[in-house]
Amino acid sequence: MSERKITETEILNRVYNAADHETLMSAYRDWAAHYDSDLLGRFGYVAHIATAKALHEALKGVTEARILDAGCGTGLVGEELVKLGYRHLDALDYSAEMLAQATQKAIYDKQMQADMTKRLPIDDDRYDAVVCTGTFTYGHVTGAAFDELVRITRPGGVIVFTIREGAYEEYGYRRRMLDLETADAWELVSFYDTPYQLEEGNTCKMCTYRIAS
Ligand SMILES: C[S@@+](CC[C@H](N)C(=O)[O-])C[C@H]1O[C@@H](n2cnc3c(N)ncnc32)[C@H](O)[C@@H]1O
Repeated sequence: MSERKITETEILNRVYNAADHETLMSAYRDWAAHYDSDLLGRFGYVAHIATAKALHEALKGVTEARILDAGCGTGLVGEELVKLGYRHLDALDYSAEMLAQATQKAIYDKQMQADMTKRLPIDDDRYDAVVCTGTFTYGHVTGAAFDELVRITRPGGVIVFTIREGAYEEYGYRRRMLDLETADAWELVSFYDTPYQLEEGNTCKMCTYRIAS
């Protein structure tokens, strides 16, 4: 692991206060090697475990499902899914350095460097399920990205994602989620508050949707 040049708190501030995408990606570039130890060791991150559990429930334990881990970061969600028996996982993230950490874990079939705010290089209806943890939050990806997740998930498939507390209303996620419900693009399966980082005492919304058949 490379020598650390910035503290855990400083990097978190850079990530959540990034003025633009370039600044955000530069923060993740500097954080990638220390991300797992900071989140798990210092911040008590648990959202990856909660997401895997929510997906497992929605898929009713069908472990053959082909799953995309969107905004996969270093692959923490993927690791939890592997523990539950899932074996067909692909990874997508815009940060090359975060994706490189995920690749090292050798749990994903395919790694894609792509921007979730743009059209994804993925065919329609490609996945049985998509998970996206920690990426619908301040300064990262807006609710416009839900449309692409819907497009790449097959009819009857599921999408599980977290939304950081506060950002839900403020960032327009709620509005886009409701619009997609009204348009019958997806239907709500479950929606609840769950801890995000135990040491920071913050929560997220755990959202599970099923794509219309
Ligand atoms: C807080 S991390 C969460 C990583 C992982 N899902 C987890 O639970 O540990 C957010 C991730 O979103 C990625 N990200 C931010 N903006 C993105 C975008 N526009 N497209 C794709 N990934 C993006 C970042 O590179 C980072 O890896």
